Amino acid sequence: MSESHTGGMNLTVKVWRQDGPDVEGEFKSYAMRDVSPDMSFLEMLDVLNEMLILSGEEPVAFDHDCREGICGMCSLVINGQAHGPDAETTTCQLHMRRFGDGDTIHIEPFRVGAFPVVRDLVVDRSAFDRIIAAGGYISANTGAAPDANATPIPKDAAELAMDAAACIGCGACAAACPNSAAMLFVAAKVSHLSELPQGVPERDRRVLDMVGSMDAEGFGNCTNHYECMAACPKGIDVENIARMNREYAVAVLRARD
Ligand code: SF4
Ligand code: FES
Repeated sequence: MSESHTGGMNLTVKVWRQDGPDVEGEFKSYAMRDVSPDMSFLEMLDVLNEMLILSGEEPVAFDHDCREGICGMCSLVINGQAHGPDAETTTCQLHMRRFGDGDTIHIEPFRVGAFPVVRDLVVDRSAFDRIIAAGGYISANTGAAPDANATPIPKDAAELAMDAAACIGCGACAAACPNSAAMLFVAAKVSHLSELPQGVPERDRRVLDMVGSMDAEGFGNCTNHYECMAACPKGIDVENIARMNREYAVAVLRARD
């Protein structure tokens, strides 16, 4: 693949088209001319859809919302990589200058059994919402806004929690994992609360219920491929998985007491 480019590019995009969850899909090939290297990847898909609508074809269904790398909706596999070729970059933040004139780009939905295809490039990621819901509430009194230093939090713990809280729930970790494991996502959510004093009272129940929900949704197990961390647009570290495994083991032992 050739690198940066200044003029308009001619591209072949091969897009996964699938009319619904229960029908077979296939790649369809579209020729695009004079694609600006300054477009984002999603803007390129917008242009493709305008082209398809003008020619009387169904536009390609794809998910997006913020287009700022925050919401986690733009979940695509681009040339075999979840969120495409750039490290720590969501699909909406990827730019066409990353591709070269004459390139062929394959675009397909996340391939995870627990994320069924809804249509074309859209998958149903509500399994993640159910795992979050299984985590339940924290019992810290919200009341009036407390003084910022009323609950002392060690700097290391605050930084670990903030790093884990950067997870946007996009699902790229599960899509990149050969086992379709969602452990990086679940570990980020578990760490983000259990590292803080406000999250401690429910920590055992939370990790047991979230891991139980993850298993019930049909996600696989981690066997240390680290593909999740490589694909994660927010740089969530696999150390969170080790932390969650320890947290889970302790919670199981305490539940037996
Ligand atoms: S851990 Fe990373 S890849 Fe997985 S859902 Fe969170 S942000 Fe996405
Ligand atoms: S559209 Fe929100 S993260 Fe990409």
